[in-house]
Amino acid sequence: MAPKNPIAVVVLLLLALSCLAVATDVTAGGKNGGGGRRVLVANGPGLTPQMGWNSWNHFQSDINETVVRATADALVTTGLAEAGYIYVNVDDCWADGKRDNQGHMVANPRTFPSGIKALADYVHSKGLKFGIYSSAGILTCSKKMPGSLGHEDTDAKTFASWGVDYLKYDNCNTLDINETLRGNMDVAKWGGLYGNSWRTTVDINDTWISMMDNIDKNDAFAQYAKPGGWNDPDMLEVGNGGMTYNEYVVHFSLWVIAKGPLIIGCDVTIISKETLGILSNSEAIAINQDRLGVQGKKVRKYDDEIEVWAGRLTRQRKAVLLLNRGAACSRLITATWLDLGIRLSVTVEARDVWKHETLPDKFTGSLTAMVEPHSCKLFILTPV
Ligand SMILES: *[C@@H]1O[C@H](CO)[C@@H](O)[C@H](O)[C@H]1NC(C)=O
Ligand SMILES: *[C@@H]1O[C@H](CO)[C@@H](O)[C@H](O)[C@H]1NC(C)=O
Ligand SMILES: *[C@@H]1O[C@H](CO)[C@@H](O)[C@H](O)[C@H]1NC(C)=O
Repeated sequence: MAPKNPIAVVVLLLLALSCLAVATDVTAGGKNGGGGRRVLVANGPGLTPQMGWNSWNHFQSDINETVVRATADALVTTGLAEAGYIYVNVDDCWADGKRDNQGHMVANPRTFPSGIKALADYVHSKGLKFGIYSSAGILTCSKKMPGSLGHEDTDAKTFASWGVDYLKYDNCNTLDINETLRGNMDVAKWGGLYGNSWRTTVDINDTWISMMDNIDKNDAFAQYAKPGGWNDPDMLEVGNGGMTYNEYVVHFSLWVIAKGPLIIGCDVTIISKETLGILSNSEAIAINQDRLGVQGKKVRKYDDEIEVWAGRLTRQRKAVLLLNRGAACSRLITATWLDLGIRLSVTVEARDVWKHETLPDKFTGSLTAMVEPHSCKLFILTPV
C-alpha cells in the first residue's frame, strides 16, 4: 500500500484502501479536462479535493473516541456535512504503543476502548466517512504508536477490515531510507502515483505567517494538481483562534482557489457562528469543488503587499482573488485581463463570493477593488 521506497521528507498521502488501481487512460472532466490532463489515482475519490475534519490541528495527541463521535455528530448538526465535509479523520495517537501477538495495530484501550471498527461504524451511521493515520516509518511522528514500515500489507488489511475510507500516511521515523535521493523531495512530482493528495509544505500553525508561507510554497507545484491528485498546503486552522476573522477569510479563500483539500482543524463541537460562516460559504466551496480541477495560482505580485491570484473554472468562468498582505493600509488592487488570461474584448459580470452579491457594474479589460489590510476579495467572473 505504501510507497515502496519512502523518502525522508514529510509525505502525506491519501489512499483509497479498497481500490488502489492506478489508471492512466481515464481522461479528466470530459472535454473540460483539456488535452493531456489525466486522472491520477482513478479510484473514485479525489476527483475534487477532499473535504472533512481532522483531529490534529486542534487536539494534537489528546484525542479519544468521545471527541471523534461528538465531532461526527456536530458535523451533521451544524450543516457542515451537508456542505461537503464528509471525512472524519483521526490523526496520530489513536493506537496502542505495541502491536498485538499477530502483529496487528490495536486501538489504545484507554482512549479508544470500543475499538476502531465500532468508531468507523458510528461515523458511517451518520452518513459520513472515516479516516485514519499512519506513517511510513517504524513509529509515527508523535512516537507514541507504531508506524507501518515493514507492516504495510498487514496494516492496509487491518484498516480495510475496520471499514476505513481514508488514510493519511505521514513520513516520520523512516530510518532515512533513500536519504541520498533528496532529488525526490518534491512529492508533487510522484505523489499522484500513490495517493489522492500530497503535502507540499512543512506543518501549518495557527499564524498568518505560517499560513501564507505554506500557500506560497504550495503555489510552485500548481501544474501537478488535477482531478485525482491535489497539492496539500496542510489542514485548515480556521476557527482555532490565532488569526483575525479577515485573516481566516484569506486562509479559506486561498485554500479554495488553490484547490487545497478542505480539512477542518478546529473543535466543531463548539464552533462559533463566524467560523461556521467561513467554512460553510457554499459559493467559495463551489470554486474548490469545480469539476475542471485547475489549481488557481498567483498571477501578479505588484509589490510586497498586493497580489492577484486566479484560476480557471468550468463554463469559461474565472475565480479571482485580490489579496492585500500588508498589515497597515487599505490598497486598491487591479486584476487585468492580461494577467487573468481573458481576451481583452470580453465583458464579465463579477460575483463577490464573500458578500454574496453580483456587482452592479460589468467589467471589460480589468477589475479594481479596495482591499483592507490582511484581507482579500474573492470574485467569480462570468462572461456576459
Ligand atoms: C476526550 O478528549 C477531550 C479532548 O482532548 C477531553 O476534553 C475529554 O476529557 C476526553 N474524554 C475522555 C473520556 O477521556
Ligand atoms: C531507493 O533507494 C534504492 C537504493 O538505495 C533504489 O534502488 C530505489 O530505486 C530508490 N527508490 C526511489 C523511489 O528513489
Ligand atoms: C509556525 O510556522 C512558521 C512558518 O512555517 C515557523 O517559522 C514557526 O516556527 C512556526 N511556529 C511554531 C510554534 O511551530
